[in-house]
Amino acid sequence: MAHSFSATAVALALVVALALVSCGAEGARPTDTDAAVDVTKFGAKPDGESNSAMAFIQAWNAACKSSTGPSKLIIPPGRFMIGETIFQGPCSSKPVTVEIQGTILANSDMSEFTGKECLLFQDVDGLTILGGGIFDGQGQSAWQYSNCRSSDNCNSPLPISIKFQKVTNGVVQDINLVNSKGFHMTITSCNNFVVERLNITAPGNSPNTDGIHISRSNQVRVSNSVIGTGDDCISIGEGSTNVNISGITCGPGHGISIGSLGKRPEENSVSGIFVSNSSLTNTTNGVRIKTFHNSPKIEASNITFEDITMNEVQNPIIIDQHYRSKKHSTGGVSLVKISDVHYKNIRGSSISNVAITLSCSSSVPCEGIELADIDITLSSNCLKKLLPLSSSCSFAKPVFKGKQNPPACE
Ligand SMILES: *[C@@H]1O[C@H](CO)[C@@H](O)[C@H](O)[C@H]1NC(C)=O
Ligand SMILES: *[C@@H]1O[C@H](CO)[C@@H](O)[C@H](O)[C@H]1NC(C)=O
Ligand SMILES: *[C@@H]1O[C@H](CO)[C@@H](O)[C@H](O)[C@H]1NC(C)=O
Ligand SMILES: *[C@@H]1O[C@H](CO)[C@@H](O)[C@H](O)[C@H]1NC(C)=O
Ligand SMILES: *[C@@H]1O[C@H](CO)[C@@H](O)[C@H](O)[C@H]1NC(C)=O
Repeated sequence: MAHSFSATAVALALVVALALVSCGAEGARPTDTDAAVDVTKFGAKPDGESNSAMAFIQAWNAACKSSTGPSKLIIPPGRFMIGETIFQGPCSSKPVTVEIQGTILANSDMSEFTGKECLLFQDVDGLTILGGGIFDGQGQSAWQYSNCRSSDNCNSPLPISIKFQKVTNGVVQDINLVNSKGFHMTITSCNNFVVERLNITAPGNSPNTDGIHISRSNQVRVSNSVIGTGDDCISIGEGSTNVNISGITCGPGHGISIGSLGKRPEENSVSGIFVSNSSLTNTTNGVRIKTFHNSPKIEASNITFEDITMNEVQNPIIIDQHYRSKKHSTGGVSLVKISDVHYKNIRGSSISNVAITLSCSSSVPCEGIELADIDITLSSNCLKKLLPLSSSCSFAKPVFKGKQNPPACE
C-alpha cells in the first residue's frame, strides 16, 4: 500500500514538474501564447518542394494584424520553398518578430520571379528577425544567367534573397544566408536598423552576390558578422548616412565598399560612415570608395576606416573615382566630391605592389584625406615580390600621421 502510494506520488510529482517546466518556458516568452503564428498552420510544407509562398503571406498577414502589441511569426524546422513573397506592412502589431528556425529555400525556377527580390519586407515599423535558421537562395542554377560580372553594370540583376524597404526600428540577428541569386540582403529607405551576428556565404566566383547592400538609409549598424561572397561583403550605396560597420570578417569577395556612387542622376550624398574592428582575407579590395564618371554633383564625406586587418588583399586601401570608366570608355569625370576620409591603424598584407591607391577626380579633388598608422607589408604570395610596395595618389593630397608603410605618396 505504502509502496503504491509513493509510486503514485512520484508519478504525480512528475506530471506537476513537467507542467511547471512547460509553464516556465511559456512564461519566459509570453508572446508565444498570445500571438504566435506558425506558417505550417497556414499550409506551409516543410518538404523543400511545395511552394509555401502563399502560406507565408497569409501567416505574415495574421501576425502583422494580430494585435497592437508584440506578435511573432514562426518558421519551424524543415525546408520551406518560396518564390516571390512580400511581407507588407504597416502592421498593427509592434514589434513583429520573425523567428526562422528552419530553412527557407528560394525557388530555383527563375520563371517564378518577376521582381527584384525573393522575400521583401515593406513598410514595417518595429521588426525583428532571429532564430538561427537559414535562407538559401539556391543561386547555383541561376548564376549562369547573370549578365552582371559586377554589381554596378547590371541591367537585370538576379533576385535579392531578402530586401528591407521602408523598415524602421529593424533588427536582424543570428541567421545564415547562403548562395543568393543576386545580393543576399538589401536595406533601402530604412531608418534605425541593426544587423548582427550573421553568416553570409557564397562562392568567391559567384556573380554579383553582395553580402549586405545599404542605400538611402539612416542609422544602420552592422556588427559581428562573417561574410564571404563573390562580390562586396558590404556595399554602402547612395543616400546612406550614419552607418556603423564593426566586427566584420570579410572574404572571399570584393571587400567593404562605399559605392559605387554617381551612376544615376537622382542619387544622394553619403556621410557619416564608420568602419572599424574588421578583417579582410583574400579579397580583391580592402576598404574602397568607388565613383563613376559623368556623375551628378553629390558628396561622400565624414568617413572613417579604423582598426582594420588585411590578409593577402589585392588593393587594401583604394579610392577609385574612375570606376569602370576605362573598360566602358565613358569619358567625362566624376563630380562626386570626396572629403574628410580617415584611415587609422590599417595593417596586414597586400598581394599587389600598390597597397594604397587614391585616385581622385581632377574636377573635384579629394580633400581632408588622413592616413594614420598604416603598416601594410608585401605578401610572399605577391607575383612581383622583388618590386617594392608603394602608394599611388592623384588629386588627393593626403595628410600623414604616425607610421607609413608603404612610404607616403605626394
Ligand atoms: C555562424 O557560424 C559560426 C561558425 O561556424 C557558428 O558558430 C554560428 O553559430 C553561426 N551563426 C548562426 C546564426 O548560425
Ligand atoms: C582565395 O580566393 C580564391 C577565390 O575564391 C580561392 O580560389 C583561393 O583558394 C583563396 N585562397 C585562400 C588562401 O584562401
Ligand atoms: C560604432 O560601433 C562601435 C561598436 O559597437 C562603437 O564602439 C563605436 O563607438 C560606434 N561608432 C560610432 C561613430 O557610432
Ligand atoms: C571586434 O570584432 C570581433 C569579431 O571579429 C568581435 O568578436 C569583438 O567583440 C569586436 N571587438 C570590439 C571591441 O568591438
Ligand atoms: C561623422 O559621422 C559620425 C558617424 O559615423 C557622426 O557621429 C558624427 O556626428 C559625424 N560628424 C560630423 C561633423 O558630421
